[in-house]
Amino acid sequence: MAKMWDARFSKAENSRVNDFNSSISFDSRMFREDIDGSVAHATMLGKCGIISASEAEKIVEALLIIKNDIETGVLPIDPEAEDIHMFVEEVLTNRIGDTGKRLHTARSRNDQVALDIRLYLRREIKEVEDLILKLISAISSIAKENIDSVMPGYTHLQRAQPVTFAHYVLAYAQMFIRDYNRLTQVLERTSVSPLGSGALASTTYPIDRHMVAELLGLNGVTENSMDGVSDRDFLIEFTFALSLIMMHLSRFSEEIILWCTSEFSFVELDDAFSTGSSIMPQKKNPDIAELVRGKTGRVYGDLTTVLTMMKGIPLAYNKDMQEDKEAVFDAIDNSKLCIELFTSMIATMTVKKDRLRKAASGGFINATDCADYLVKKGLPFRDAYRVSGRLVAYCIEHSTDLESLTIDEYKTFSPLFDDDVYTAVNLDNCVNTRLVYGGPSRRSVEHQIKLIDNYVELKGAEND
Ligand code: ARG
Repeated sequence: MAKMWDARFSKAENSRVNDFNSSISFDSRMFREDIDGSVAHATMLGKCGIISASEAEKIVEALLIIKNDIETGVLPIDPEAEDIHMFVEEVLTNRIGDTGKRLHTARSRNDQVALDIRLYLRREIKEVEDLILKLISAISSIAKENIDSVMPGYTHLQRAQPVTFAHYVLAYAQMFIRDYNRLTQVLERTSVSPLGSGALASTTYPIDRHMVAELLGLNGVTENSMDGVSDRDFLIEFTFALSLIMMHLSRFSEEIILWCTSEFSFVELDDAFSTGSSIMPQKKNPDIAELVRGKTGRVYGDLTTVLTMMKGIPLAYNKDMQEDKEAVFDAIDNSKLCIELFTSMIATMTVKKDRLRKAASGGFINATDCADYLVKKGLPFRDAYRVSGRLVAYCIEHSTDLESLTIDEYKTFSPLFDDDVYTAVNLDNCVNTRLVYGGPSRRSVEHQIKLIDNYVELKGAEND
């Protein structure tokens, strides 16, 4: 195919150079955004008198038909085209002749691609936001079912203090709320138009950049033409936001993998979200959770790709920047898949409340409460801590626990113990007396759930 720039060149491009240079295989997914950007640009050129109103109309009309033809498969994307921008322009010119050649007035592919990727990422950010809201809702539903499901909370993966399954999973809801808020901030910085930056030094035509931004529903325009064409911060930020989402999903996956072991046996995944083994008939493997954990590394890799790709680039556009797309697309595709599957996986898993309670009963996770009991009776905390420690050692030696000791046994450790100690070390009471804001008590957890549900409702409505 003849190149757009063959007037300046005396030789055709080496065929391998053509392939090496080409980005159509991956940037064709931005065809809608490319056309929307061109429609806005042509409309503005017409309104500003840079091309005639009838030319603008003709271009816009043809572009909309091209968009529809690509969508419906009538117009297959030519894999020989260099990129989606060249492809659309070529089709346009083939279809409407010389008028099509006027579209690229006052524009460069550099500001065009910068606009396209912003428009494309805006759509994807909103889709990821929707998936995150569904995930938060699924967590909230699990929490509602498990407000009284007492279980051990861990530090160092050692049983530490009693919490509930509701409180446990709501910790993850908070992470995903932060992720959602982060996406919203990235969306804001993504939603400005670089069009009019030209190749790097803007243009001499009397264009109206703000009109283009407004036509595209963007919040404003970039402030410096050289920054406008060479800024990919928004793309890196989005990849980072996805990396954090994946990190949160990966931690949650790790817990689920542990909880599915016979050793923990806190949850059971639905058969539809588990896999078997080709040799061991008894196996039921949490592959989905493992793949989510595994793909997290891949998304971090995409982040490293875009950060590293940008670090040595002088102003303004350089072809290195074409490498941004495959990385961010890979991060988007994999993160979306992971969020969706993970949500369905946890929504269908069974929580084994009896196993949670059994684990809560065995690990002296009420030893702090026992010490606090003595503090309430007047003992300084450090002394109470020692008494409780000696009691635990005694229990271990006699294979018993704090709930089962007789009052006489208690009294040999401190005269301050009385019958009410059983209320103090009762696991449900241990949880429900932690009334502090943000704690695991029923009252606090119900409040957490209410805030989360309100959040999901508000953000869902904003996104509609
Ligand atoms: N395919 C290119 C990219 O993705 C489009 C911009 C090309 N600009 C240029 N001066 N070669 O970055």
